[in-house]
Amino acid sequence: MKRKHNLVLVTLVGAALTLTACGSDDGGSTGSGSDDSGSAAEVGKVGVILPDTESSVRWESADRPALEAAFEEAGVDYDIQNAEGDAERMTQIADTMIGDGVTVLAIVNLDSESGAAIQEKAASQGVATIDYDRLTLGGSAEYYVSFDNTVVGELQGQGLADCLGDKEANIVYLNGSPTDNNATLFAEGAHSVLDEIDSYTVVGEQAVPDWDNEEAATIFQQLYTAADGKVDGVLAANDGLGGAAISILEGNGQAGKVPVTGQDATVEGLQNVLAGTQCMTVYKSATQEAQALADVAIALANGEEAEVTGTTVDSSDDTEVPSILLEPQSITKDNVGDVIEDGGQKAEDVCTGEFADLCAEAGIS
Ligand code: BGC
Repeated sequence: MKRKHNLVLVTLVGAALTLTACGSDDGGSTGSGSDDSGSAAEVGKVGVILPDTESSVRWESADRPALEAAFEEAGVDYDIQNAEGDAERMTQIADTMIGDGVTVLAIVNLDSESGAAIQEKAASQGVATIDYDRLTLGGSAEYYVSFDNTVVGELQGQGLADCLGDKEANIVYLNGSPTDNNATLFAEGAHSVLDEIDSYTVVGEQAVPDWDNEEAATIFQQLYTAADGKVDGVLAANDGLGGAAISILEGNGQAGKVPVTGQDATVEGLQNVLAGTQCMTVYKSATQEAQALADVAIALANGEEAEVTGTTVDSSDDTEVPSILLEPQSITKDNVGDVIEDGGQKAEDVCTGEFADLCAEAGIS
């Protein structure tokens, strides 16, 4: 089933602009802002609402600068805000952006319910919406821009298996937030690999509300204790959760002995990979994701169809959402340098203090 789209209104905006350009002067030009720069005037303004600053450093340290660069390069007006982990705040920001005349609104939802409500309101005002990174279940976004999140989970599962080998191993899963559809896909992907390996046993598995790193440490401590400390591998859904598990393992003299996974190729994650306390992370280029979002936003604002890689099925209602799903990359000690070469992190940030020698050994300068 295809989702119903509200492209009509967007197309009308495009048509109105075209008419204006042709010299028609029938008023109603309450559009946002200036028409000093050609493409910005045509495209209107794109609003982006990031979720928080705590669940991962990526949103402010990687996504924001990448989005700014992509919109500036395209000459598009933009407004990027952060909801600070508060769904009500995201709703208010969305209202303000709609009032300010954004023509396209992209959100990283904090939960599907609040995300869907934001999208519904936007649609009723003729504002097109895009799901950035997280799919809003039951939402009405015209497009979904993300990575293939099932593959992210598969890479994590495979990474852990590569670190463990085929010995008997007890595995604990620290999954992402139960409100994040991505977290479901990461766990499914990881299970699809690890459940196939007979010598592994799942001895604990829990989702971490809101991806809260501190709560993750508490949860991991409990799972670790419940398993009598007999934990041989940790499938942690991102670098923040991985770091939390590593801190507990450290307290038990097990850091570096028990492989832990991650995601986001954060500075801390890459340092842990170099130090051997984390077995792998997953790199998802913010530059690629931001560029994909900018491309889709511009197409939408122009009333055109965006180029997609396929569709994603919204599991809540079986609708198909046109999607751009990018390819994630597995990072181990051997290829940390790839992230730096790609501009995902700077060597000067990763190779500080005690990590300088490890970087040199890994050929990173
Ligand atoms: C993103 C991850 C991120 C996590 C916590 C997920 O939806 O895909 O990259 O680590 O949220 O913010």
